[in-house]
Amino acid sequence: MNPDRPPEPVQGVVRFYNFVPEGNAFLEDVLAGLARAQKSIPPKYFYDERGSKLFEAICELPEYYPTRTEMAIMRAHIAEMAEFVGPDAELIEFGSGAGVKTRILIEALRPPLYVPVDIDGAMLRTASENLAQLFPWLNITGMCADYSRGLALPQFVGVPIRKKAVFFPGSTIGNFTPEEALEFLQRTRGLLGTGGVMLVGVDLKKDKSALDAAYDDAQGVTAQFNLNLLSRINRELGGDFQLQRFAHRAFYDEGSGRIEMHLESLCAQLVRIAGRRFKFAPGETIHTEISCKYTVAEFGAMARDAGFVTEKVWTDERQMFSVHALIAA
Ligand code: AVJ
Repeated sequence: MNPDRPPEPVQGVVRFYNFVPEGNAFLEDVLAGLARAQKSIPPKYFYDERGSKLFEAICELPEYYPTRTEMAIMRAHIAEMAEFVGPDAELIEFGSGAGVKTRILIEALRPPLYVPVDIDGAMLRTASENLAQLFPWLNITGMCADYSRGLALPQFVGVPIRKKAVFFPGSTIGNFTPEEALEFLQRTRGLLGTGGVMLVGVDLKKDKSALDAAYDDAQGVTAQFNLNLLSRINRELGGDFQLQRFAHRAFYDEGSGRIEMHLESLCAQLVRIAGRRFKFAPGETIHTEISCKYTVAEFGAMARDAGFVTEKVWTDERQMFSVHALIAA
């Protein structure tokens, strides 16, 4: 060893796996979705490079409270959260995105292994590289995958792992219908195995005006985010959507307890995608997203039905957002 140089820190290892299937799922999903009576496109396709950036901008909007509220809840209770997860946990994050909340958790938890799972490969790489800079001791295995379809994790050797822990922040679970969310929780329960744990962020039911504003902001960033889906189809699938002929619509439906986001056709028009033609009547919409809201009790009941025991629920003072600590029973 060279005595003049300080000892090198032990470096973590960064790996990537790509589980995004070959073939063009985007094209298939768009063609199938636009052939339905109620046209629809799954929200996971929002997140191309521009879409991910626009979502980050949404998180900074004054009307969009979920990100900053969840962040504040985490900052206030991070020691308790880390204690709940416990040492030597393989930390798996679904829809890891830019990974800002993750930093708070990794710092407190110091897990031997972090497994971010995201459908946006470029975002996954950048976020992992940033984390590797910040936490040189951390092993990172990025998984480019669609976690909504179920996921097989590789066996990790050479790292001491006592349990699996899934981190699913942001109320991304709201993108599933309650039926899909239950299935997703059941599958996650299976992935974790008995004794595994989950920290999940869940947006709470509240006043309609606050929810409407959060998804239809004054600056129109959410509108750009929604319309970017059409730009992405034009660019990647050879579509000919004229963006000025569509409008962003988002509203909270109190009956179903969910936000619905649509792109509304402003006139009668014909759109071509990959040689197929789709007719739009004036006022007809493409349904692009749901964002389901729950009460703490409603989400607790669903977690229980999926085989989890709720250890603790943290909320902010105004009961806007909740973070649930679940144990796989
Ligand atoms: C990333 C799914 C949690 O539903 O609040 C934000 C996405 N859509 N504004 C949400 C979104 C419009 C967001 N999630």
